[in-house]
Amino acid sequence: MTCNARLEPKVISQGLVKHYTIEFGGIKTDIEVHLIQASQYGVHDYVAYVIDELPDWVVALPPLDRIVDWFGSGAKLERAVERGLKSIGIKPSRESIDLAVRVFNRWFNYYGALTPPVLLMDDVTDIHINKVNTKYGLGGIYIEHALLGRVQVIIGWEPYELRKGRRVIKTVSFDLNSFVDYLIRRVAQRSRTAVTSYNPVASVVDPEFGVRVSIEAEPVSPGSMSIRVLPRKSWTLPELIRRGMISIEDSARLWLLADHRVPILIIGPMGSGKTSLQNAIAYMLVTRSMALIMDVAELFLPFHQVVKPMLERVAYAHGIRSIDKAELIRQALRSGVDIIVLNEARSGGEFKALAEAITLGHGALTTFHAENIEAARARLRGGLGFEVEELLRLSVIVEVSMSRDVRFNTETGGVYEVVTRRFVRKIHNTEPYMNALIRDYGVDYVNRQLGGFRIAFLTKAVNAGLSHEQLANLLYVFYKQPEAVLKSVDITAEVSEAISEQAKPLPLPDELLSLDSEFEPYKAGNGGR
Ligand SMILES: Nc1ncnc2c1ncn2[C@@H]1O[C@H](COP(=O)(O)OP(=O)(O)OP(=O)(O)O)[C@@H](O)[C@H]1O
Ligand SMILES: [Mg+2]
Repeated sequence: MTCNARLEPKVISQGLVKHYTIEFGGIKTDIEVHLIQASQYGVHDYVAYVIDELPDWVVALPPLDRIVDWFGSGAKLERAVERGLKSIGIKPSRESIDLAVRVFNRWFNYYGALTPPVLLMDDVTDIHINKVNTKYGLGGIYIEHALLGRVQVIIGWEPYELRKGRRVIKTVSFDLNSFVDYLIRRVAQRSRTAVTSYNPVASVVDPEFGVRVSIEAEPVSPGSMSIRVLPRKSWTLPELIRRGMISIEDSARLWLLADHRVPILIIGPMGSGKTSLQNAIAYMLVTRSMALIMDVAELFLPFHQVVKPMLERVAYAHGIRSIDKAELIRQALRSGVDIIVLNEARSGGEFKALAEAITLGHGALTTFHAENIEAARARLRGGLGFEVEELLRLSVIVEVSMSRDVRFNTETGGVYEVVTRRFVRKIHNTEPYMNALIRDYGVDYVNRQLGGFRIAFLTKAVNAGLSHEQLANLLYVFYKQPEAVLKSVDITAEVSEAISEQAKPLPLPDELLSLDSEFEPYKAGNGGR
């Protein structure tokens, strides 16, 4: 790759820290993260340079708007692009037309030069974009990188001089503020949501990229966007256990309680892993029917049989009725689901509907944003009503927490890394429910379900490195024949066995049951169900 085959920005660097190459729509983009010494503060900082592997004349391509006009008035795209190339003095060859068409496509249908970092760039959780020169803040593009923390993003190139012969006829430089306007228009178009002075704030999801975009535009803001990269796959309990977020014992207890429709409320600060844990618990309940109630698509149970996904609808235009999560909870009740999985309870109405659901005997698995249990109590008591207080008293409350440290990692060549730890700090209120289970089902049942089955299952699953599908399949077998799963030496083999034997009725073959005598006492049991 020669130097002028890339749109080179001026890289200030004390060392390359990470390098990503992402291909999108036939264009390769390098993202280089460099360590720099921030001049103001004399501390380390990271800058990510987004560098398209394209010849530099591409930056002069904006007569893109004119290409759109020609294209829109009936010209073939190739012809329109050819005219565009001629107008900036580039000889249209097959190759240059082809390239320009790709660039045009990315700009016209996606997010132009922002597309690669939004798209599958690993390790990014959030992208913040603000206009520069506004007097309110520095502005610019920043990403939150899972390992490096906040990283400034430079999209662009050194000002490019468009020449005719030796004469410079135009200097093209990257203009962030018009880029922000462009991005806002693109989001609006892709999500079919008008962002106008009448409706200057919007929060929409782009499912193709798995992102939630919040926009504030004139007149409430000079122009600002926040992009949350939604988890690309959901976490499972065995994975969270392996990562040290929760213990096997706590996991087993929450799993058992959730299965018995005990209301569980997960609280914690922003980004502490509430939704991840919620999804992971729901994932274990393969035999239950569940409603997933959320404002954006964040909960996924791809291998469950009875799942009702319900997404809140915000009124975005005159005459379009909002459908909030409280209404969705009531709808879920009418449809008789076992468990309501509610992501981000916020309003009094939602808590009220939830309290109703619980009194009617439905299970509920809810997340709620609060720093800790005291803060949750204060917020819920502060005027949300009697039902809400009841709810707090009735629920098993899981407090999750997060700590952040910066360490200098010499092993990776001297990189400052952010070490984020997410963990379950405390679980409140399980006692009465465990006692109730003992009262209703007997102590043997509880011991067998907890220590015998679920802890043993999770211990095996943690070590087996199961895929999402394998875990779900194994759970289906486990609910019917827990001993069979626990006795198998290699539970991944068990999964393939179970899948290939799908047509045959359970129980599984006797040979499987005799592989391991560890769980002998339960061999004769019926799994407790
Ligand atoms: N145990 C874990 N180890 C590593 N990453 C995790 C873990 N749990 C969650 N994450 C990641 O942390 C990020 C935040 O998780 P999640 O969305 O579940 O948190 P949250 O508390 O629901 O956040 P919010 O307050 O925004 O709703 C996600 O990118 C998720 O993939
Ligand atoms: Mg969440």
